[in-house]
Amino acid sequence: MVVCVCPIAADVGVGVLKAGGNAVDAAIAVAFAEAVTWPEAGNIGGGGFMLVANGSMATFFDYRETAPALATKTMFADGKVDFRSHQSAGVPGTVRGMVLAHKRFGTKPWKDLLAPAVKLAAGFPVDAPLAKRINDVMKDPKTMNAEFKRIFGREWKAGDTLKQLELAKTLAGIADHGANWFYTGPPAEQLEAEMKAGGGLIRKADLAAYEAKERKPLIGTYRGYEIVAAPPPSSGGTAILQSLNMLEQFDPKKHPRHSPETVHLLAEVQRRAFRDRAEFLGDPDFTKIPAHLTSKDHAKKLAATIDLAKATKSESLAGAIPIAESGGDTTHFSIVDKNGLCVSNTYTLEMNFGSRIVVRGAGFILNNEMTDFNPIPGTTTRTGKIGTNANLVAPGKRMLSSMTPTIVRKDGKPYLVTGSPGGRTIINTVLCVLVNTLDYDMTATEAVDAPRQHHQWFPDRMSLEKGPKDLVEKLKAMGHAVTEARQGDAHTIRIDPKTVLFQGAADMRLNGKASGY
Ligand code: DON
Repeated sequence: MVVCVCPIAADVGVGVLKAGGNAVDAAIAVAFAEAVTWPEAGNIGGGGFMLVANGSMATFFDYRETAPALATKTMFADGKVDFRSHQSAGVPGTVRGMVLAHKRFGTKPWKDLLAPAVKLAAGFPVDAPLAKRINDVMKDPKTMNAEFKRIFGREWKAGDTLKQLELAKTLAGIADHGANWFYTGPPAEQLEAEMKAGGGLIRKADLAAYEAKERKPLIGTYRGYEIVAAPPPSSGGTAILQSLNMLEQFDPKKHPRHSPETVHLLAEVQRRAFRDRAEFLGDPDFTKIPAHLTSKDHAKKLAATIDLAKATKSESLAGAIPIAESGGDTTHFSIVDKNGLCVSNTYTLEMNFGSRIVVRGAGFILNNEMTDFNPIPGTTTRTGKIGTNANLVAPGKRMLSSMTPTIVRKDGKPYLVTGSPGGRTIINTVLCVLVNTLDYDMTATEAVDAPRQHHQWFPDRMSLEKGPKDLVEKLKAMGHAVTEARQGDAHTIRIDPKTVLFQGAADMRLNGKASGY
């Protein structure tokens, strides 16, 4: 089964599974297909994380972008670098990430896995949700790049054919010659030329030096389930384990899922996990990440500070972080194959359509991931800007991510595969799906459809999807500031432990398909 935002890509993945490929083969084919068919987030010009697990095996492919050698610690500090500029792009990681995953787990020829993407790039019919996303981005005055406009700039309707001919050529080159061709051959030349023309920082040497990394996932437990989670440079796994460890000190099920009591408890847990995230998390190759963050002991101490009737002021948790006065897009897919091999993959261009810059001649959209670094050294604000050392810009460093691909196992068998886009809300979207399934026994569809909630320490405000009547009033009475907002896109697979049937839930907040056989 493959569940993802883009129906065409879901079917590409199932095609690979039906032809005898495993979940990682399918994931590679889906990732390249979405680089064509979901251009706002699917990518070869961005980066991401792939979590793979089966039985007692679990591993993690980190293909997060890095800062180019010309990047500096204060490059975003005066607010002059535009979020959609050449300078906002990190060194892309997706192609090396897919090659690494293929080397470790692939069973099908590399070229076969790229073939559907090459074909789609020559032309495919857009559906209504994609037409709307492109029309919206073209109406935005911040979409300026001439090459981007040449490819996407017209009024789209369902059924129109989107052709990305330069991208087709680049994908065909990657299919024929592999990752080195992309990182040192013509696309590297084209990217450097694009950067020089647009005042960007990435050079051929940055591309040649880029490495995807295999890392050990974080493993935690929650009420008898084993949680396989994303390690740094994701902040997601750490925050999820910390949150679940805190929740274990309580019994959320005492109250209905969308009762003020449970929503309050979750918000308090989220607030505390995000406070630690701000102080400690960054690229583990540059920043020492303390081991205690995911320990049960640390969670017990944090849980003891939660008042079950009243909101804690975020400011009171700041501790060593001085608070100053002050001020997307990603996509996730989940795959399980007939042998129980699970892939949970989240990858991103950062904001929707990334920097909105297409590399001339190479046809791919560049990320604007550099904006995930802490912008102003030392300045952490009540509005949610973070300025701690752990995630300051440095050449070669990976920017901290909230992407949280997650796999849950029970007695050594896969139980749940999930993840989401949504910037910092990703972590809490995943937490909601976990609580809904693990505590409240919801099916995949119920867990994905249920209203979500987010608290990220600062701003000191809870964001909620529309829930039961009176909920917001009751939370305000407990001392919470509350806003309502849509949250996430969590394409999820749950394996019913009793029937062993796969429940695929495409998150219809955006678009999607659960495809299986
Ligand atoms: O890695 C991160 O945390 C962000 N670049 C993700 C951005 C995102 O999810 C925006 N999409 N909705």
